[in-house]
Amino acid sequence: MLLLVAVLMLASCQGETQVAEENEAMAIEKAPFGTTPDGEQVDIYTLKNANGLKARIMTYGAIVVSLEVPDKDGNFGDVVLGYDDLDSYIENVNNPYFGAIVGRYGNRIAGGKFTLDGQQYQLATNDGANHLHGGDKGYDKVVWTAEPLELEGATALRLSYTSPDGEEGYPGTLGIEVTYALTDDNELRVSYEAVTDAPTVVNLTHHSYFNLTCCAADILGHELMLNADRYTPVDDTLIPTGEILEVAGTPMDFTTAKPIGLEIDQVPGGYDHNWVLVREADGLSLAARVVEPGSGRVMEIYTTEPGIQFYSGNFLNGDNIGKGGISYGKHFGFCLETQHYPDSPNKPDFPSTVLRPGETYTHETVHKFSVKSE
Ligand code: GLA
Repeated sequence: MLLLVAVLMLASCQGETQVAEENEAMAIEKAPFGTTPDGEQVDIYTLKNANGLKARIMTYGAIVVSLEVPDKDGNFGDVVLGYDDLDSYIENVNNPYFGAIVGRYGNRIAGGKFTLDGQQYQLATNDGANHLHGGDKGYDKVVWTAEPLELEGATALRLSYTSPDGEEGYPGTLGIEVTYALTDDNELRVSYEAVTDAPTVVNLTHHSYFNLTCCAADILGHELMLNADRYTPVDDTLIPTGEILEVAGTPMDFTTAKPIGLEIDQVPGGYDHNWVLVREADGLSLAARVVEPGSGRVMEIYTTEPGIQFYSGNFLNGDNIGKGGISYGKHFGFCLETQHYPDSPNKPDFPSTVLRPGETYTHETVHKFSVKSE
């Protein structure tokens, strides 16, 4: 009940948005995309902006299925990895969270255990001994409720999911709203809000794999800048050691743009780490810039979050046959997951991921697309 009231309050706060019902002028189309094995219907929405950018988002996993943006010659191409049909997302045991919203806790929690207010919780362990991306059935594998929105200068889709108390071991019922907005400034904005009826931990993120060549090549030639002079080193199960180290003089240094592949061989397993973002103030701040020299496509990421996981697609191995029959080999896509640091519930010195009743979790991340001609 408490939660319902909070969710209603949350909805009424968003007074500037107007629900668009059957509005012909709206640049959002809805189509059926299949049915889950449990018989739940899944829909796919196509959002278009004034410049022809297009995002297809489905209600299963709140997944961005495709995202078309132009290159320097104005040719549109799909810059995210994924599958052609719903069954491939559901049945593919190798589906590595393509395009999904992950939670309740994106990234890893050591041993799937944490203590909150003196009580220990045991979460599902689905990554060796650790908990990863919400467990066996995280938010990437549930069907969300969708509502198209017409915003000023953007078309948007609000997705909602209520995560029951005890789901995958987490305490508290969590009411979540994620809004994807495709703006006329060529941005894909992802805004998150969540409220709980009992103390819990929350770390939501978006898990698109980007390839700005539109799969003409792997991502090792993409030039990456990360606005971070420190990172959180990890043990051999990818759990942070708790230290925060300087990137200067190491292959982790992306403070000046360099090709992803330049020093990747010096990083055992490839990049799969959390960087500590430089922030001058609260609010949106530049986290990353990626330039793909061949196509001229540029993606900048701005976020309100303190960290970013840069993952260089190390576990892709060619078993992932994606859209159009393309085999996604190692390093065929990269993820830039804006987030709190991994294993924060067990690391008191990291920024807190605890959410309590009466508080609202908020997170906003902007992916801004442009081109560079030389
Ligand atoms: C995240 C993790 C990686 C991997 C991928 C999914 O980015 O950090 O280690 O688990 O998700 O394959």
